[in-house]
Amino acid sequence: MLRKKIIAANWKMYKDLAEANDFFTFFIEKLPKTKAEILIAPSFTCLWHAFETTRDYPIEIVAQNLHQANQGAYTGEVSAAQLKSVGIQRVLIGHSERREYFGENDALLKEKVNTALKNEMNVIFCVGEKLSDRKSGNHFEVVKSQLQNALFHLNKTDWKHIVIAYEPVWAIGTGETATPQQAQEMHQFIRQTIAGTFGSATADAVSVIYGGSVKPDNAVSLFSQPDIDGGLVGGASLEVDSFIEIIKAL
Ligand code: PGA
Repeated sequence: MLRKKIIAANWKMYKDLAEANDFFTFFIEKLPKTKAEILIAPSFTCLWHAFETTRDYPIEIVAQNLHQANQGAYTGEVSAAQLKSVGIQRVLIGHSERREYFGENDALLKEKVNTALKNEMNVIFCVGEKLSDRKSGNHFEVVKSQLQNALFHLNKTDWKHIVIAYEPVWAIGTGETATPQQAQEMHQFIRQTIAGTFGSATADAVSVIYGGSVKPDNAVSLFSQPDIDGGLVGGASLEVDSFIEIIKAL
C-alpha cells in the first residue's frame, strides 16, 4: 500500500506575520524536490498570508485548532467555515498541548473531528501517552482509548480524511525522542488497532506520522521505519534549514 508521506510543521504560538513571511521567502527558495506532502501550521493570524504566499507551491497551510460549533457567540474562537474562507483545508486536532492546557478531552475532540469532516476538512489527529503512562506500561492502552473515543464512530470512508500523529508527550519539546523502535512499535499498534475495527485495507491507507523532538539528526532513522509515514515537527520546523533537512530525510 502506497501511503502518503507527510512532513508537517507545527509552529505553535511562534512567529508573527513578518517572521512567517521571512520564513516563506527563504523556504520557497530552498524547497527541495520531494515526494512528501509538506504541511505548515502557523498561528491563525498568519493563515491567510501564508496561504496566499504559498499557493503556487506544493505547500499546504494547516490550522492548529478549530471550534466545534459552526458559528456562534464563542468569543476568541475560530470556526471551520472561517478557516475554509482563508483557504485552509486541514486542521490539527487533539494535540497534547490542547489536551493538557485547554482541557480538551476525548468527547470534545470527537466533536471537533465531526465538525471538521462535516465541513469537508482533513484532520491530523494527535495521540500520545504521558511519561507516567509509559512507565506504568499503559502506553498502548492510552493510545488505543484516545483513538477509540474520538475516531471509532467514523465510517470507513471518513478515514481518507484522517492522518494520525503519534506524539509521546514525554518527547515533545523536551529534546528526548522515542527511539525508532519505540515509535515503530506504537505506529504498528495504531495501524493494527484501526485494522481491528475498520479492516486492514483502511488501516494500511492511513498515514501515521511521528512527532516529538524530530530533528535533522534523528529524522532518517525514524522515517526509515516501515510504519512511520513522516513527521510532525515543532521546534525544528521554525528554522528553514533544519526543516529542509528533515524534509530531505524522508
Ligand atoms: P517538538 O514538537 O518537535 O518541538 O517536540 C512536536 C509537536 O508538538 O508537534
